[in-house]
Formats: sequence, C-alpha cells, structure tokens
Amino acid sequence: MDNGKQRNGAWVDLDRGTVSREIFVNEDIFRSELERIFARTWLFVGHESQVPEPGDFFLSRMGDESVIVTRDPQREIHVLLNTCRHRGMKVCRYDQGNTSVFTCPYHGWSYSTDGGLVTRPGDLYGVPQYRAGYREELDKSEWGLIHVARMEVYKGTIWAAWDEAAPSFSEYLGGMRLYLDALLDARDGSEGGSEVLGGMVKWRMPCNWKFAAENFAWDTYHSPTTHKSAEIAGLGPGGEGQERHGSVHRNQAKRFTRGLLAFPALGHATITGPPEVGAEALFPEFPNDPLVAEYFEDVEAKRRERLKGKLTVTPGNGNVFPNTAFHPWFPRTMVVWHPVGPAQTEAWRWYLVDRDAPWEVKDLLRHYYMRFSGPAGMVESDDMDNWVYATEASRGTIARRHPYHYGMGLGFARPVDNLPDAVAVKASFSEEGARAFYGRWAELMNDKP
Ligand code: FES
Ligand SMILES: [Fe+2]
Repeated sequence: MDNGKQRNGAWVDLDRGTVSREIFVNEDIFRSELERIFARTWLFVGHESQVPEPGDFFLSRMGDESVIVTRDPQREIHVLLNTCRHRGMKVCRYDQGNTSVFTCPYHGWSYSTDGGLVTRPGDLYGVPQYRAGYREELDKSEWGLIHVARMEVYKGTIWAAWDEAAPSFSEYLGGMRLYLDALLDARDGSEGGSEVLGGMVKWRMPCNWKFAAENFAWDTYHSPTTHKSAEIAGLGPGGEGQERHGSVHRNQAKRFTRGLLAFPALGHATITGPPEVGAEALFPEFPNDPLVAEYFEDVEAKRRERLKGKLTVTPGNGNVFPNTAFHPWFPRTMVVWHPVGPAQTEAWRWYLVDRDAPWEVKDLLRHYYMRFSGPAGMVESDDMDNWVYATEASRGTIARRHPYHYGMGLGFARPVDNLPDAVAVKASFSEEGARAFYGRWAELMNDKP
C-alpha cells in the first residue's frame, strides 16, 4: 500500500469500515491536520470562571500553539496568540495571573489588554527605542498580538476558531448542543451555573490525539475489558463499593435502552441515545455522607420537576469534533487532547461543579475526580496504556501495511426523528461514532478515494 493508503486509495474507508494505521504516525499527515483541521474548526479553550476579573488571564492552547485568554476592563473576553510580533518570543510565560500589559521578555515590546490605552486589546503599546531605533516610524497599530477570528462563550465555556469562514458555533455544534447542555447545566436542571474546580490538570502522553478522541466518540466497547478492575474496585463518588450512577439495578436497566448517537456530517458523537420526554439522569448514592446525600436528593428532585414533560437527554460521554471530550455527569469534566506530534499528545482536563453547591459537595467531588480520572486516576491510566501501545504498534514496518477494523455495527444506524443531523444505533456497542469522527476527519483532510 503506497503511503499507507488502502485499496480504494484513501486512508479512511467508511464502506468497509477500515482506517489506515498511517494516520496515527505519519508526520506529513500530522502537519496537514494542523492546517486542515485545527486551523479551521471550533476549539474549546477554557471556562470564563478562570478569568472572573478584568485583567485576569490564563494560558491555553489551540492545536499546537499557545494562546492567552484574558478579560478586558469592559469585561469582554479575548483570545490572543501568545507570540511576540517582533521575533516570536512568548509574551506571557505564566500559567495564570492578572495584568493589563504583556511585556515581551526578549526586547521589551509591550502589548496592552486595556482598551482604554489602545484601540483594541492586544495592540502594541510600548516599543523600547521607539525614537532612537525606529525614528517613530513603526506603525504600532499594525503589530498587535494576533486575535482569533471567532470567539463564543457558551454557558460559561469559551470556544474559539482561527477561520473567519467557520460556521457559527451553534451550527458547528448542531444537535450535539443538547448533550453538551447535560454537562454544562446545573444538576438541578437549571441553565448553566458551572465553575471550574481548581485549575486544569495537564499531562503528556506518547500517543496520537485521535486514539483519545475516538475513545469518547463512544468506545463503550473497551469499558468491560479495560476498566474491569476499576469497576470491581467500586470507585463511585459515594465512596468504596459505590456505583458511579445510581444503584446497580437502576443502572443496568438504563444502560441497555439508551442506544448510541452520532452526527456524521459534523463528526461529533455521544454514548447516549436520542432526546426523549423526561429522559432520566442517574444520581449516585452517598451512604456515608448525610449532608452530601441530602444535597443530591434535593437537586435530583428539582431536576425531575423542572424537566418534567420536556424533551431532554440522558447525560452521556461524548466528543465534540475534533478534540474536546466530556463526561457530563460523574465525573463532570471536559478534556482537550492537544496535538503535539504524531505520537505526542498533551491532555488538559477541567473539572466542573455547580457554582452554588456547598463546600462539602465540592470537596467530595474533588476527591472523586482525582481518584477516577486524570493522569493518576485509575480509569484514565487504563485508557492511556491502550492509546500509547496502539500508537507505537501503528509505526511498525509490517504492522503499518494493515489497516484497523472499524466495522462494528456497520449499516445499522438510523435517522433520528427530532434531531435532523443525527443517526442513532439502538445497541450498547457499535463503532458508528468512530466512523462519524473519521468520516469528518477524512472530509476535512480531503482524503478522497
Ligand atoms: S521578540 Fe519580543 S520584543 Fe523582540
Ligand atoms: Fe476508558
């Protein structure tokens, strides 16, 4: 096979349900992904609770680049490329803080985020030797920090895109919005109201970013094998021996009626089924903690009341194309798989809680989140092992000639009545979500047979 392409001349073959190993290891394909995918799609950069006050900033990433997320005195949020226009030095080297000016540590150009001093936040403000060196002829207005082309705050989450021609964020999400809402809305069913618990957890893994992303584009298939030990250990938020979502009984009953859902034209997927009237959310039990138990009983009751008779969704994991995955319930978290190289991914994980939840609830969830996911959590460590070995194995001289099988449940997806861009599979296991992800990937990469 030339260049790892398959029989029909493409890397992704949706008719056969196969994907070439080449796309996980090839340097040229990786460079092309940065141009064709990460420079064109909407990317999650953070949460507005990370910049509550004017002048607050934190560093985030978009694709392989560092960006500054900051709030100006008019309370507007800006996302700026963290590179000096003079010779490229990072103008900000702190993870977070508060400032009205970013001064480049190389030759001292300074960029203000205070719209009162400059025309536009991020504009070049101070230039050492402006008179002696530049004879006052440098047009500062042309040399400000680079802004993202598009930015949108959705229920507290900040999203950005480099492409002026990108569709609106709402079009980009399509029906996936309902599933993101299950993550971002309060546990009592009211809109929004989340905040980031602590900072971001960041770590690097020697794997291709797509293995991680497709895992959340509903790989329910791996859980019974990969996470068996974690399931046996009973890592639920309620403590030792407790389930993640409600009792074993309620959980089993639900698990087999939901189905799986994907958006082939958009590339998103989620492990939960189509919207239903009165879709249920499963709350865990807290036998050892009466205050926390009472809180969750209370929010559960309010949620049932508030959403009664409304078309809503059962919360379930998902992936917003290309690289933002989420767990909407327990744990409640978002993660971005930043591409660093074909075999290098930097994971950034955010944990969310209701802003108004009592301290005891936030603290219990903090402990649960730490033992469940993140680089030291039991479940995420299981996953990372798989992605790292799969990436390494994709590189082998002989192995590389043989594509992967993505054919489970091929041909069984059906349209969904109340979500025009979605297809659903009424089964607990299928690879339709991964096919939607790689189909969209192939379209953006112009991977034509
Ligand atoms: S690189 Fe920033 S001032 Fe020279
Ligand atoms: Fe997993």
